[in-house]
Amino acid sequence: MTDALPEDIDDIIVDPRTYGDEHSYHRAFAALRQHDPVHWAEPRDYRPFWAVTRHADIMAVELNAKNFLNDPRQFLVTKTDEDMLLAQSGSSNFARNLVAMDDPDHRAYRALTSAWFGAKSVRALEEEITALARETVDRMIEKGDSCDFAKEIAAWYPLRTIMIVLGVPREDEPLMLALSQKVFGGTDSDSGGGDGMASMVEAFEAFNRYFNAITLDRRTNPRNDVATILANATIDGQPIGEKERNAYYLIVAAAGHDTTSSAISGGLLALIQNPEEMARLRANPDLIGNAVEEFIRWTTPVKHFFRTALGDCEVGGKAIRAGDSLMMCYPSGNRDEAVFDTPFAFRVERPDARKHIAFGYGPHLCLGNMLAKLEIRILFTELLARIDDIRLAGDPAWVEANFVSGLKRLPIRYTVRT
Ligand code: HEM
Repeated sequence: MTDALPEDIDDIIVDPRTYGDEHSYHRAFAALRQHDPVHWAEPRDYRPFWAVTRHADIMAVELNAKNFLNDPRQFLVTKTDEDMLLAQSGSSNFARNLVAMDDPDHRAYRALTSAWFGAKSVRALEEEITALARETVDRMIEKGDSCDFAKEIAAWYPLRTIMIVLGVPREDEPLMLALSQKVFGGTDSDSGGGDGMASMVEAFEAFNRYFNAITLDRRTNPRNDVATILANATIDGQPIGEKERNAYYLIVAAAGHDTTSSAISGGLLALIQNPEEMARLRANPDLIGNAVEEFIRWTTPVKHFFRTALGDCEVGGKAIRAGDSLMMCYPSGNRDEAVFDTPFAFRVERPDARKHIAFGYGPHLCLGNMLAKLEIRILFTELLARIDDIRLAGDPAWVEANFVSGLKRLPIRYTVRT
């Protein structure tokens, strides 16, 4: 039995603090799933929307991309910030990237890099990523017997991977890390600067300047990287526009690491808090593929995306009107009792782990999902082979952000296997 719906549920759904405490998130959303799974929310500072909280409804909306469009609303932006964007750029869209596009543009732009992120290319990166994972565990070992795993380890490794894919030199990593944390963690005072949209816009402009320089370089010095594909990309015989190209760099650069690092830190915390699961995985390393799916279900680093209805329709028995927007609440879908057996139990052998929708679903399904899974699998294989007796050395802390969030601090102690 779950709690009754609190009176201020609409504000709870959008409040970044809800996302900084997984228990309050899950309490609120379990109540929504039970009492009003497709819920009309009118939070104080945001345009209203439907919160879609059940797995089946989220999948149904995402699959019907003809009626549920990504343009013009992709994620929570306050009314004030939306007005600011409209005044600045004439659009409430932050950037014209894959996530903001619908067909036919979405199909054409996604096709530019889909082979790069497909199974074959990702497998070809395995050796390089394994070397990085070794280096990452070496860093842990160099730190002695303790570290802040979220800050010092998990943030660094996916960033380095995505920089390799993009073709960004190693010395520019700190800049990329700072910028993308500003873009994604804009409401958290520790990680994002704490000044919301202004911080995001500033970071966005810095990204543009950086990637314009990369584009010029790759036009004269083509290499085997995603930057070269984007610098020289054409659609229907025409070069893609600067705005679209930079938005593409941004989505690949930013979407590829805070998400993956959150799944890595959150996965490790879940193993520490469930020692019998840690022991099970150590005893049977072949479980790693399924365990990675469970880490991702458990952490669900992307908290929502939006769709907007093109025509009148119905979702979960509710009448949706043309123009209404819908918030896909992924962490809620991933704890849906109708799909997952004992959804609040973390189990590396969970047979239904692969049913998670942490990567979304349908035509916008995460472009980097295979890369993310490969990275996580390789890192944990390396980590568990070389590090023993991992335990908490302090309280973990979560980023307070309602779009992409995860652990910002994970102090741990460990012993190095000799
Ligand atoms: C655990 C890690 C990750 C999670 C949880 C995650 C989650 C998501 C989600 C929920 C979406 C939206 C899907 C939808 O609307 O149906 C998405 C889209 C996307 N992701 Fe990821 N992602 C992760 C890692 C990555 C990585 C490593 C990359 C590397 C490039 C990446 C690139 C993208 C891109 C480009 C899109 C837009 C796809 C489109 O709209 O067509 N993601 N991701």
